[in-house]
Amino acid sequence: MGKVQVHIPVLLKEVVTSFEGLNNGVFVDATLGMGGHTREILEQIPNSSIIGIDLDSEAVMLARQNLKNFGNRVNIAKGNYVDMVQIARNFNKLNVDGVLLDLGFSSVQIDDAKRGFSFKYDSELDMRFDKTKGVSASDVLNSLDEAELADMFYTYGEERQSRIIAKSIVKSRPVKTTYELTEIISNIKRKSKSKIHPSTKVFQALRIYVNQELKNVEKGLEEAMKLLKFGGKISVISYHSLEDRIVKNFLRKNSIDCICPVSMIECQCNHTATIKIVNKKVIKPTEKEIKNNPRSRSAKLRIAQRIPLAEIV
Ligand SMILES: C[S@@+](CC[C@H](N)C(=O)[O-])C[C@H]1O[C@@H](n2cnc3c(N)ncnc32)[C@H](O)[C@@H]1O
Repeated sequence: MGKVQVHIPVLLKEVVTSFEGLNNGVFVDATLGMGGHTREILEQIPNSSIIGIDLDSEAVMLARQNLKNFGNRVNIAKGNYVDMVQIARNFNKLNVDGVLLDLGFSSVQIDDAKRGFSFKYDSELDMRFDKTKGVSASDVLNSLDEAELADMFYTYGEERQSRIIAKSIVKSRPVKTTYELTEIISNIKRKSKSKIHPSTKVFQALRIYVNQELKNVEKGLEEAMKLLKFGGKISVISYHSLEDRIVKNFLRKNSIDCICPVSMIECQCNHTATIKIVNKKVIKPTEKEIKNNPRSRSAKLRIAQRIPLAEIV
């Protein structure tokens, strides 16, 4: 029998609560994964329907199986959420009541020994969500120059030893597997007393770079705004500070009327708020959830609502 592929959806109740009241609504689950959040929304929100998007064809296949009982209440597309407006249009939806972005990777992806996301398994360093496009992590390691590698590890992994790691990688090229990379890093960090695995930050940086995750988050949020109806809601779960900063700044910027620098005496930007922040305080998993699903521990949920038409003066 094959390995059971499981991903426990994070902040499930909180996500569904964020969409409460949007009965008969059309939603976009922009990061469908195994369809855990989609299933719960379909079960809890009467007459809802969902367009589910994922870059990963294996996720799309599994989600189709998991959600088949919902029939035409769910439409699934393999694609990038940066194209969500066009994808929704392909399903004849010009605007929607809610958008969910549950960022990052799923447990199914990281636990798949062949994908190269985890330093726990020895495999080719691939790390692409969409294996049909872009370049693999090993191509990146073997083609960027030393300074570019160091910058990537520092910017996307906040890795303090980025320079020495980059130097050692360049010396050891070609670096093709997770274990080869882990060995290089472990040799450098042999005396480290940190609680996290020595390779955590470099692996995070590589994954973000390979999948252009931060650019996608920024673009995905903009697309979601174009798609949301007046009064519609957006819920975003992020898992590390780089993502969360983008989400927080984006929502903040779109929830205020003036974005001029503070030094400006009179407003010149003509910017107007399009959304209201729903939860002033970020929502985090309870201790019980973290105990049940340790991978949820860094999750942060931010919710905003497109300002209802009636409130626009
Ligand atoms: C945290 S998982 C989502 C899990 C899902 N909420 C569930 O309950 O099963 C994130 C998913 O987003 C997908 N993903 C990442 N970047 C994407 C992008 N730019 N466009 C579409 N899907 C993306 C990944 O392939 C992964 O399956």
